[in-house]
Amino acid sequence: MFLSFLFLWFSVLIFTATAAEFRTHYCDINTTSHINNTSFYSNLVQVLDSLALDYNTINDKRFLNESTGSIQPDIAYGLYLCRADVLPSDCLNCLLNAREDINKTCPFSKAAVSWSDNCMLRYANYSIASVMNSNTFIPECNKVNISDVLSEQSKFWQDVMSFMGELANRASNDLKGMLAYAELSYNSEKIYGYVECTPDLSSSACHQCLQVSIDRLPLYCFGKRGARVLAASCNVRFEIYKFLQFSTASSSAKPGIKINFIML
Ligand SMILES: *[C@@H]1O[C@H](CO)[C@@H](O)[C@H](O)[C@H]1NC(C)=O
Ligand SMILES: *[C@@H]1O[C@H](CO)[C@@H](O)[C@H](O)[C@H]1NC(C)=O
Ligand SMILES: *[C@@H]1O[C@H](CO)[C@@H](O)[C@H](O)[C@H]1NC(C)=O
Ligand SMILES: *[C@@H]1O[C@H](CO)[C@@H](O)[C@H](O)[C@H]1NC(C)=O
Ligand SMILES: *[C@@H]1O[C@H](CO)[C@@H](O)[C@H](O)[C@H]1NC(C)=O
Ligand SMILES: *[C@@H]1O[C@H](CO)[C@@H](O)[C@H](O)[C@H]1NC(C)=O
Ligand SMILES: *[C@@H]1O[C@H](CO)[C@@H](O)[C@H](O)[C@H]1NC(C)=O
Repeated sequence: MFLSFLFLWFSVLIFTATAAEFRTHYCDINTTSHINNTSFYSNLVQVLDSLALDYNTINDKRFLNESTGSIQPDIAYGLYLCRADVLPSDCLNCLLNAREDINKTCPFSKAAVSWSDNCMLRYANYSIASVMNSNTFIPECNKVNISDVLSEQSKFWQDVMSFMGELANRASNDLKGMLAYAELSYNSEKIYGYVECTPDLSSSACHQCLQVSIDRLPLYCFGKRGARVLAASCNVRFEIYKFLQFSTASSSAKPGIKINFIML
């Protein structure tokens, strides 16, 4: 009994230690040669440096936008967003890894985004603050179907879509954080959802980005038991396992909503 408990505990430890963090990226505005000896590049290095540096000096660490340079076309714009439940030290770590990732994978790009479980890092040679971009996006599906039966898949996804739509409404009304999360009981399972925008967006721009992204979920991932769409200005995700570290099951709920959110 004790041994099997110990074994289970060690399996969990090993799994946690070896589970690679999900990471993906999008390289945009590709040039024909490495941009490392351009003025834009030295501004880019500076803006990415200062995002990481300022991270240590500001209080609200979740989102930051900056720019370096004063003359077009050499100005570099950068921003990052960490998931709201991520510890500050993990946020910084995530940003450093994201920077290394785009440094390696997008050497010819004047604009790029790196997404991972915990953060998004983005730069461009054009102003990106307060500008909604849902066209730059990557879908990521859980590999496993929720059921072998098509009608079961349809029912699950119908519930998922209204659940996510409700989260989009909540997030775009949450003017400070521009995020929402909740869990929804489904048969004997629970569906966990999280949506967020960069908080520099207006409420309506946030809602638009979230809705476009939610509508893409079934286009790429219909039938699956989990899915996300990662866009430059927002991201949406649901799973049937708890992927957030929040101690409450839901961000502030409004009374009278149709879906029965589970509150702690
Ligand atoms: C830029 O180049 C990368 C490969 O380095 C490629 O994956 C990506 O699709 C390109 N982006 C555009 C917008 O052409
Ligand atoms: C720029 O990067 C290319 C490719 O990595 C490298 O061959 C070249 O030496 C670099 N140039 C400078 C000025 O760092
Ligand atoms: C970049 O380096 C190449 C070769 O080292 C040089 O021909 C080119 O003029 C440089 N470009 C800039 C913008 O400095
Ligand atoms: C990419 O990595 C190289 C080597 O560590 C570093 O010199 C350069 O400043 C980095 N560039 C950016 C844009 O972070
Ligand atoms: C960051 O975004 C805010 C809001 O759009 C903008 O006023 C500010 O100029 C931006 N900062 C930099 C350094 O780009
Ligand atoms: C960004 O770089 C691309 C490719 O070099 C260029 O066509 C575009 O005009 C640049 N944008 C700005 C705002 O400088
Ligand atoms: C998963 O569901 C999709 C959509 O209904 C279907 O096309 C696919 O064949 C299913 N895959 C497996 C492995 O059952």
